[in-house]
Amino acid sequence: MRSHYSGEITPGLDGKSVTISGWVHEIRDMGKLKFVILRDRGGFIQITAKKGVTPDEVLSAIDDLSKESVIRVEGSVIRNDKAPKGVEIKPEKLEVISKAASPLPLDVTQKVDADLDTRLNNRFMDIRKPDISSIFRLRGEILSAGRKFLKENNFIEIHTPKIIASASEGGTELFPISYFDREAFLAQSPQLYKQMMMATGLDRVYEITTYFRAEEHDTRRHLNEATAIDMEMAFIKDDGDVMDVLENLVLALIKKASSCENELDILKKKINVPERIERIEYDDVLKLLREHGKKLPWGEDLDTESEKLLGKIMLKEFGSELYFIVHFPLAIKPFYTMPFKGEKYSRSFDLGYKGVEIASGGQRIHDLELLSKRIKHFNLNPDNFEFYLKAFRYGMPPHGGFGLGIDRVMMQILDLSIREVVLFPRDRHRLTP
Ligand code: 4AD
Ligand code: MG
Repeated sequence: MRSHYSGEITPGLDGKSVTISGWVHEIRDMGKLKFVILRDRGGFIQITAKKGVTPDEVLSAIDDLSKESVIRVEGSVIRNDKAPKGVEIKPEKLEVISKAASPLPLDVTQKVDADLDTRLNNRFMDIRKPDISSIFRLRGEILSAGRKFLKENNFIEIHTPKIIASASEGGTELFPISYFDREAFLAQSPQLYKQMMMATGLDRVYEITTYFRAEEHDTRRHLNEATAIDMEMAFIKDDGDVMDVLENLVLALIKKASSCENELDILKKKINVPERIERIEYDDVLKLLREHGKKLPWGEDLDTESEKLLGKIMLKEFGSELYFIVHFPLAIKPFYTMPFKGEKYSRSFDLGYKGVEIASGGQRIHDLELLSKRIKHFNLNPDNFEFYLKAFRYGMPPHGGFGLGIDRVMMQILDLSIREVVLFPRDRHRLTP
């Protein structure tokens, strides 16, 4: 339905016949001259109609146009220094393919600001705005870069079930569903299944997946449906091997984002690409926080306030936007986490980016006896985990992995809230669109 995208039409095409299709962004009627700005995926192009030159049926079609209708225009390219980008279209035929009703639920030209709720309620139209669509073009680029990196590092893309029978990340955050006559849940993570893959010999696997979490909080960093790159690798020495992969992956994602010049220009953003990622012990994090007036008792996980403060400290004192917090207390990490220095610490880590956790991971327990003991320690019923424990009975190599939140990566790269970087966010109040 088109010979060119608007972005491909340059003054160099002067005199050439073209067909363009897209949405009516603006209409300006100056009496003898009528301008229509057509918008498509590639940008904008001006269509200039003149009384006495343009066919009458085209002129009257323009008079009847409504903003955001879908049109198809045939015409010739005219070089014109006064037109945007020095070029415009002289229309010979204009066809309305789909007429838009008015008034519009949202102003795509952004002359009138809309609040986030109105935008999300009319998301299909919100994404017509070039800056908003840039967010999702950038997101697509980052995901492709992630896949490319993982493939180059020998990881196999897999899919694990999203309907599950037991929790992996603690029992409170599950969405129950009705599964015939049995109890089932939406998967909060591929954790148990990706670990089971380590007993198959596939060795290195990853999944780009949705997490379902029935968390009650209503924050700018939590959703009830989140997306992550989840990976697991076998034959590791310890959690350090896993961090090495995560470090290189995250740097590759940020580097990719920084190379999306067109999108960043439209979004008016600049991205800093760090060279490496700092690694600090949990105990040292508590010390740093204490020096800055925040007393977090040993054994507690970082709350939002501590995370934010740590982000500021890391930037000011280490010049780091990205940092690993390593060796958390064992008690606050899930049952599958490998203990470290007796049972006090664990071979686990979180990855922080400008004051927000973007990933968690670590080395897992591969010894069946220890794993069963840890399951009981958390007052979980080992019978519910028999399908998982079985994979540890017949040869399980040392392994580890991580979950890297894509929504979190996106929000931190662009300094936006999580709802802005997800197409159709799911939170406590939002189930549609
Ligand atoms: O920290 P989480 O819960 O860790 C796990 O799921 C482990 N199974 C990972 C592992 O391999 N050991 O989730 C991992 C990441 C978080 O760091 C965060 O980026 C994202 O997933 N995430 C969420 N993002 C938005 N909203 C939520 N409710 C999220 N829950 C987790
Ligand atoms: Mg975590």
